Parts: sequence; C-alpha cells; structure tokens
Amino acid sequence: MSGLFITVEGGDGSGKSTQSALLAEWLEQQGRTVVLSREPGGTELGLELRDIVLHRRGHITPRAEALLYAADRAQHIETKIRPALERGEVVLQDRYFDSSVAYQGAGRVLDPNEVRKLSLWATENLLPDLTILLDLDEHLGRDRLKERTKYDRLEDEEQDFHARVRAAYLELAAAEPERFLVLSATDSVEDLAAAIRARVAPLL
Ligand code: TYD
Repeated sequence: MSGLFITVEGGDGSGKSTQSALLAEWLEQQGRTVVLSREPGGTELGLELRDIVLHRRGHITPRAEALLYAADRAQHIETKIRPALERGEVVLQDRYFDSSVAYQGAGRVLDPNEVRKLSLWATENLLPDLTILLDLDEHLGRDRLKERTKYDRLEDEEQDFHARVRAAYLELAAAEPERFLVLSATDSVEDLAAAIRARVAPLL
C-alpha cells in the first residue's frame, strides 16, 4: 500500500483540526494507519520552535520567522512524515508550506516564490497528494477566535494581514486545482466531512 500525504490549510479558526480528526477516524475505519500531525510543532525540536515563533515576546523579522517555520518543517518531514509515508501510512497534517507562502509571503510580504523555494529545499521537495483548503472570511475567523483568551503572534495581526493570507490561499488553489480541494468553512461540519471523504476515497 502506498502512502498518502494530505494537508489541511485555512485561516485561524477555520475548523482544520475538527475536520482532520473526523477524516482520521474514517480512514481508520477503512483500515488505514493514520498519522495526525501539525506544523509548527510536530516534533520535539518543533515544539521548541513553535514556542519561539508563536509566543516569544519582541520582534522577529519576517525572514527570521520564515526560517523558523522552515526549520520546523525540515525536522518534521525528515524524521516523522517521510518515514510514515514510506511505511504506507496516511499522513494528515494541519498546515504545511502553503501556510508559509500565505502567511510569510502574502502576510509579511516576502517574495512568495522565495518562501516556497525555501520550504521545498527544507523538505527535499515533498509535495502533498491533496491539500484541503477550508476557506473562511477573515472577519468570521476573528469572531470564532474571540472565545479564546490568548492569541499567538500571528493571530494578533491586523485584519488586513488576514485578508492577504486568505487571498493568497485562494490564488494558490486556483494555480493548482488538481492538488487542492477548496471548501467553504461555513458549511456544516457534517457536509464538510462528507465532501472531504468523497475526494479522498478514490485516492485510497
Ligand atoms: P496553530 O495554533 O497551530 O494553528 P491554528 O491557528 O490553525 O489553530 O498556529 C499556527 C500559526 O502559525 C498560525 O497563525 C499560522 C502560522 N503559520 C505561519 O505563519 N507559517 C507557517 O508556515 C505555519 C505552518 C504556520
């Protein structure tokens, strides 16, 4: 059985982890072994990097931020994700390099192509088989997050930043329609889960 690499992308508060958990459950019912992971923070080193990049006080320059995410990604892919794919497992990952292109590229205004190249270098060109984009109006994303008490450094950015992130995601999806499944995050949890299963089933 060959491995399958699925990434889930979308703004903060778009419901990525809910959908990943539901898909994982369904994949296990289909007899597949599933690895659920996330970036930043999918490894021990990654947890330290996550803490720095999301919660460190004080300014982190855009390039330093991009490199911290890339370092997390390099460690994660080589030590955890590639081995799982080689064992024929299904990897379901919250966020991958499209997050860097959207947040560090469009959000922080670095060159998106350079950010993409940095990630591909970090991962030795590992591309997902499928990327699920849970598209959400940035205002709604903020409302969903309001219930939380603490924002991380990126969630704290102004509305305009999140509007650029959303537009960048939609552009990425339009450029690679075979890789992306774009869904509206405001659909019901059950409808979203069903649409995702329908797209994943033929890949198994
Ligand atoms: P996290 O709490 O893991 O995700 P979510 O907000 O989806 O619940 O936070 C990760 C934050 O890091 C999120 O605001 C997006 C940001 N991020 C980047 O800016 N670049 C990246 O490459 C990745 C993976 C995440």
